[in-house]
Amino acid sequence: MQTEAPGSAAGPLADTQPSLTISKLPKILAVVNQKGGVGKTTTAINLGAALALEGFRVLLIDCDPQANTTGGLGFRRQHEDEKPQRLSIYDVLLGPTTLANAMQDTSIPALQLIPGSKNLIGANIELVGVERREYRLRDAIHVLSATTPEPFNFILLDCPPALDLLTLNALVAAEGLLVPLQAEYFALEGISELISTLDRVAQAFNPGLGLEGVLLTMYDDRTNLSQQVTENLKAFFGEKMFRTTIPRNIRVAEAPSHGVPVAIYDPKSRGAEAYRELARELLQRNQMPQSAQNTAAELPQEVNR
Ligand SMILES: Nc1ncnc2c1ncn2[C@@H]1O[C@H](COP(=O)(O)OP(=O)(O)OP(=O)(O)O)[C@@H](O)[C@H]1O
Ligand SMILES: [Mg+2]
Repeated sequence: MQTEAPGSAAGPLADTQPSLTISKLPKILAVVNQKGGVGKTTTAINLGAALALEGFRVLLIDCDPQANTTGGLGFRRQHEDEKPQRLSIYDVLLGPTTLANAMQDTSIPALQLIPGSKNLIGANIELVGVERREYRLRDAIHVLSATTPEPFNFILLDCPPALDLLTLNALVAAEGLLVPLQAEYFALEGISELISTLDRVAQAFNPGLGLEGVLLTMYDDRTNLSQQVTENLKAFFGEKMFRTTIPRNIRVAEAPSHGVPVAIYDPKSRGAEAYRELARELLQRNQMPQSAQNTAAELPQEVNR
């Protein structure tokens, strides 16, 4: 089990060399923490939106049977007997659908979504007998990268609150883990299990996998407990802690019920500002320009779902 601060460790947790320019290949980040309700989905949606509004092309993949990323971007739940059924990541993982076929537009032109679906509950079992079961998502992303005329700059994978086969597919496909944490007494509970999972996945399937960063969510710096827990987390994670913290903000919590990211719902809110900061910090850490200056930064539009 990992006991050292990840920032100082050699191996999969060690700092990787940042790329100097916008790469043709997407940067693939898994938003992961097996603990429920820590802000994974909120971060996937709002970081994705913030990067897209900076002009980067972003693909969000909803790997969670709860499909909250899908719902939060305004896609309603479908009944089982409704026709046609919207294609989801389930159809991609179990084949023969491609990511390109399942892709949906969102209210931000540069942000696209591969929906989740409750069928994913069964995928954990159905995938067991499938060839290359751990590589299904990675293979699908490779096909997309090889065939799409407009490459994505970022692919964000919203994971379920479990270290299951769906999360394993995300970890095998990803280059980095983005771990949202709440500054509470039990924040580090489960983290050593997550870090040892990262190490094992890196050894067995994906040597390039590392920890991109740890993000404090729903943060309230007025309490002594938050400050104390934050100090402990900084001591443990070192440079891997994002400087940006996401405050608890009602507009962030309200935005999904309007089917849009907080940057569209209330761009001036503290929550929207914090996710903008996070996007800029991520770009800076990866030595990417603060704005992609491409056509992707068009104004948000109404989409028909
Ligand atoms: N910064 C914030 N301010 C206020 N509420 C927030 C914030 N971030 C998340 N929430 C709320 O906290 C709850 C949990 O957030 P979220 O769904 O993003 O967590 P999760 O880790 O994806 O959960 P799960 O493990 O179930 O997938 C949601 O109701 C969300 O609206
Ligand atoms: Mg979630």
